[in-house]
Amino acid sequence: MRPPLDMSAFAELPGLLDELAGFGAEEGGGVTRLLYTESWRAAQLFLEERMRVAGLETRFDRAGNLYGRLLGADSAAPVVLTGSHVDTVRSGGRYDGSYGVVAGLMALAALKRTCGAPLRTLEVVSLCEEEGSRFPLAYWGSGNATGVYGFDDGEGIADADGITLAEAMRTAGFGLETQTPCLRRDIGAFVELHIEQGIVLERSGRQIGLVEAIVGQRRYAVTLTGASNHAGTTPMSMRADALAGAVEMLALLETRAKAAGDPLVATVGRLETMPGTPNVIPGEVRFTLDIRHDKELKLESFCRDTLAAFEAIARSRGLGFESRCWLATKPTQMDDGLTGLLERACLARANSSRRMVSGAGHDAQLFAAVCPAAMLFVPSRGGVSHSSDEYSTPEQLTEGAAVLADCLYELAYGQEWRR
Ligand code: GLV
Ligand code: MN
Ligand code: MN
Repeated sequence: MRPPLDMSAFAELPGLLDELAGFGAEEGGGVTRLLYTESWRAAQLFLEERMRVAGLETRFDRAGNLYGRLLGADSAAPVVLTGSHVDTVRSGGRYDGSYGVVAGLMALAALKRTCGAPLRTLEVVSLCEEEGSRFPLAYWGSGNATGVYGFDDGEGIADADGITLAEAMRTAGFGLETQTPCLRRDIGAFVELHIEQGIVLERSGRQIGLVEAIVGQRRYAVTLTGASNHAGTTPMSMRADALAGAVEMLALLETRAKAAGDPLVATVGRLETMPGTPNVIPGEVRFTLDIRHDKELKLESFCRDTLAAFEAIARSRGLGFESRCWLATKPTQMDDGLTGLLERACLARANSSRRMVSGAGHDAQLFAAVCPAAMLFVPSRGGVSHSSDEYSTPEQLTEGAAVLADCLYELAYGQEWRR
């Protein structure tokens, strides 16, 4: 494989990422860009303009996914797609998702400048949502593009302020029947570049991670109902304290997860106490549960047994218990052929690489259901992500973008890639 571009093609990448991070920037360096908010919309419009300037044909679909297209000579051939997501977690970093979008945009721009029109159409996508940070649903963008979700799946879903997904979508200018349908049946390959968000690459001193599989996930909303009462007059033996029950559950969760061992991980990321007043016994507690493993059977049995143990704790304390699973993704294999292509691209640039499993969820796992999909990672400093401390060096960012561009070149300009 002969790399079609030199590294100078990506010199502006870190600066463009910094500019994008301005949308939703917070004091202290974090970025919050939740689905369909003003900062999210401004970021998508900014990217659209940058795609246009790069000579790409742009369009939004009904959900708000943004595409930039470089038309191929064979317009009937399946499309080669790259990209990632533009939404963030609350107070997240500037690289998660954004990096794959900006690097994809720059790769297409550089390929167009240097190599002209491809044989097969190349597109970059800024997917509208991946994180599940505003609404209790994740992968809304890639889910709609792949048909894993339909618009009906968003019905009845609301954010913490009671704003429905449909209302938020309309406010941002999307969700109209007249807009371009989301479902893509013409994708031949999907390649996503992302920061690792873990410590594997840094520890092993490798430049590029080649993702073989992405873990499966379950996310639950749990509600415990007890009885609110006076903190001073209710004897300890007469309480139905929902928070005390939740604390017992959380301690058990950690013990069980540690006993299950790597790669199982279990997290309670949000816990709300009602009424949330110092001198009132909490009558209701709601918390989230995020559980992951790369083996479906192990994931399934851990979730089942843990929820049964939670229920038993609730019963023993006289608490009501309700759990609702709102996300269930299976562990997903990436395409071997595409991963091999990325590996050869690393070799051609003398970049060290290693194969690995992704503990984070990614849009690529949804595309894997409809086309060959692959992912590559660059190192994250200290393995930190979903934090304002997220950082990868300019060299790491440009190296990853160059490998992505080489792979896209083979797929869209090469004679060999046929699916
Ligand atoms: C997405 O970033 C995830 O939670 O894995
Ligand atoms: Mn991400
Ligand atoms: Mn993320």
